[in-house]
Amino acid sequence: MKKLLVLFALIALVLGSLTGCASEPEVTGPETVKVGIAIYKFDDTFMTNYRNEMEAYLTGMNNDTVKYEVSITDGKNDQATQTEQIDSFIAQGFNVLIVNLVDLTAASTIIDKVKAAGIPTVFINRQPSTADMGMWDKITYVGAKAEDSGTYQGEIAVDLWKANPALDKNGDGIMQYVMLMGQEIHQDAALRTEYSIKKVEAEGIKVEKLFEERGNWDRVLGQEKTAAAIAQFGDKIEVVFGNNDDMALGAIEALKAANMVVPVIGVDATAPALDALESGDLAGTVLNDHVGQARTSVDKALVLLAGEAVEKEYWVPYVKVTPENYKDFK
Ligand code: GAL
Ligand code: CA
Repeated sequence: MKKLLVLFALIALVLGSLTGCASEPEVTGPETVKVGIAIYKFDDTFMTNYRNEMEAYLTGMNNDTVKYEVSITDGKNDQATQTEQIDSFIAQGFNVLIVNLVDLTAASTIIDKVKAAGIPTVFINRQPSTADMGMWDKITYVGAKAEDSGTYQGEIAVDLWKANPALDKNGDGIMQYVMLMGQEIHQDAALRTEYSIKKVEAEGIKVEKLFEERGNWDRVLGQEKTAAAIAQFGDKIEVVFGNNDDMALGAIEALKAANMVVPVIGVDATAPALDALESGDLAGTVLNDHVGQARTSVDKALVLLAGEAVEKEYWVPYVKVTPENYKDFK
């Protein structure tokens, strides 16, 4: 008798699952997807816009079937701190990671870890080497071609120079310039420095580098370095290039304090930079499209999560921003 009952129960179970009419209705909430985002440091204007957009874009996709739980960490510009944060994402079983490395030389260590844990990862803003990216097929990189941002800065300088002969203050036909560079570890710093000047020279304008120092993407450092350049070269300075807007805005403060008017060109097109373009303080900048990059990185994270194949890298274009078109970006 007991055996018979068990048999009936089994048959009922099988039939139930076949016809789909289980006796109890299933209670299912949305599936939770945990997304860990590691930022190199929070105190960075461009990366702040970037991370806010990633979070807004992800949570904006929440619905009845899926809920994105986003956790964002501040690496405080210290790789050991960031590595601990990534270890903790792994220990907590996060589903996918988006990583803005502090130190590119740590890429292989991080890739070893996420690979061992089987957690697909999108690198952003700081590009690991080709060799590192080859370590696993569930990683990808989203960025912008730094060469292009440099070339656009060069174009802005050339156009200004050709339109205003008075910019050549000493009339020697040579563009005497100051270069404020970003952090050493970053491809954007080296390539913007190189390609901005390459473009000016390619247009047949001679250049003379008066001063080239690192402001590490930082506004205060940009101001201090420019003040130092002014102390050394004063009115010899004819153009200032900043590898990003924060340093360019710092340079403008230093120039104002010295009662000097010199064209300053940045990169990023942050809100304060666009204001400075409007007021005429900033000569030009280049849109570093944080919205496009944020959404592309999230989209690729979701592609990886779905188990689909990705390319090794994805590029979001830069756009030249001048007094003529800045309103389009405000
Ligand atoms: C650059 C950006 C800088 C800074 C840096 C951080 O692309 O232009 O302003 O945010 O990334 O890695
Ligand atoms: Ca000159």
